[in-house]
Amino acid sequence: MKSQQTIFSGIQPSGDLHIGHYFGAMKNWVALQNQYRSIFCIVDEHAITVPQDPEKLRERTLDIAMWYLAAGIDPKRSIIFVQSHNSDHTELSWILNTITPFGELERMTQFKDKSSKMKKAGIPAGLLNYPTLMAADILLYQTDAVPVGEDQKQHVELARTLARKFNSRFGVTFKEPKELIQKFGSRIMSLQDPTKKMSKSDENKNSYIGLLDAPDDIRGKIKIAVTDSGKEIIFNQEKKPAIANLLTIFSLFSGLQIKDIEKKYKRKGYGEFKKDLGNIAVAHLEPLQQKYRALKKNPEQVKEILREGVKSAKQISSKTLADAKQKIGFL
Ligand code: TYM
Repeated sequence: MKSQQTIFSGIQPSGDLHIGHYFGAMKNWVALQNQYRSIFCIVDEHAITVPQDPEKLRERTLDIAMWYLAAGIDPKRSIIFVQSHNSDHTELSWILNTITPFGELERMTQFKDKSSKMKKAGIPAGLLNYPTLMAADILLYQTDAVPVGEDQKQHVELARTLARKFNSRFGVTFKEPKELIQKFGSRIMSLQDPTKKMSKSDENKNSYIGLLDAPDDIRGKIKIAVTDSGKEIIFNQEKKPAIANLLTIFSLFSGLQIKDIEKKYKRKGYGEFKKDLGNIAVAHLEPLQQKYRALKKNPEQVKEILREGVKSAKQISSKTLADAKQKIGFL
């Protein structure tokens, strides 16, 4: 039991949640909350680094809280709160910005990806500074480990670098966090292009299975998912990336080992494999959707959890922030 250790993680309310968020993040959090002091945030301040519709942002923020609960995050064990409800995050972020080299931010993969689709004059400074806000999220809670998908590794590394830098310049203030990345499921790929990560910003909705997708859509998306040449259902990331991705998803939904799935479909075709995968995905997602829908009918109950959550969060973060401010010489 690692009762002294803390984990912190979050999801942006910036689009539809998909099975990548579930397997790469939420499902793991549910298991980890029994071992760690756990803090799960809905990072709305990160979401506004690209344009958001205000009403949709508000609705999605509450929705993500509902998904956390539907997935099994227990508010009695874990703290669940909204980032913008605790101003300590933006305050520490500013302080961290002053010790973050511009070049470090410019070389972040996520920044490069997102900004490459924009004209230079239109790139918001917030998109560049995004990782210092994420570092503040993590460092405020003296976090030991950050359970995330593969794509967030670089950001957690920066948080660790900033903690070390601040500590060596001003005296020990922050814990140096580590990323906690599952070997399996930390990078679910697009169903339409297995060289690309499954992403909520993908315009092709067939590329991802949304957590709220209807059963027929789930089956349909799997049916039309791209496959590789050849007929065999074997796990080979280089030669058969599409089938490797589908096998990964099959394994995550069913709990079966890859080698057992390979055996099961040894002399069978892609069609049968995909049909079964569709049914397994539906069977797994339906109960989750039912819980989400039940919570959706009772938003006040969820808002109350968030109100309580931020009180607990603030108790921890305010101490760290006060210490950091004292150390850097604020009166
Ligand atoms: P976000 O909102 O893009 O994604 C939330 C979590 O889901 C994981 N994820 C995936 N995992 C596997 N396969 C995929 N295709 C996939 N897509 C998404 C992400 O790795 C992530 O763990 N910057 C973060 C949010 C954040 C945060 C934090 C996380 C802000 N502050 C502090 C941890 C700690 C983000 O944009 O995640």
